[in-house]
Amino acid sequence: MELKGHYFGDRGDSVTAADHGRANVTKDEHDRYRFKVPTLRNAELTAPYFHDGGTADLHQAVRTMLKYQVGKELPDADVDALVAFLKSLTGTYTPLSGSEKGDVPARAHNPS
Ligand code: HEM
Repeated sequence: MELKGHYFGDRGDSVTAADHGRANVTKDEHDRYRFKVPTLRNAELTAPYFHDGGTADLHQAVRTMLKYQVGKELPDADVDALVAFLKSLTGTYTPLSGSEKGDVPARAHNPS
């Protein structure tokens, strides 16, 4: 998550196992720090956000995306509009059970 900024550097703590991203699974150096773009369906219900659970607030998640993936800051009204759009994607939500989640590296972050 470093396209337009340094997410890990700005986070200001050490890199965790989860931060290694897809490389945890493929063992391919090319995949280090790469992350699957998650579905945004039901995003309203699936906090905390990002691979590190770095934020539990959807507005903050949108601002983080704008900063690191889009390279923009937007006024609060526009962020509110994006969140309203994301909330329009809420439908029936069926969380995975523990055994379906698989071997996901533990995250070392507490959402702020
Ligand atoms: C305004 C535009 C965007 C919005 C509103 C947005 C929204 C979001 C949200 C809410 C999440 C968290 C989902 C979750 O953890 O369940 C997310 C994650 C993610 N998005 Fe975006 N996104 C935007 C643009 C982009 C762009 C342009 C890219 C790639 C070029 C991108 C790539 C990703 C990736 C890779 C993640 C997962 C990151 C991680 O797990 O650390 N997003 N996005």
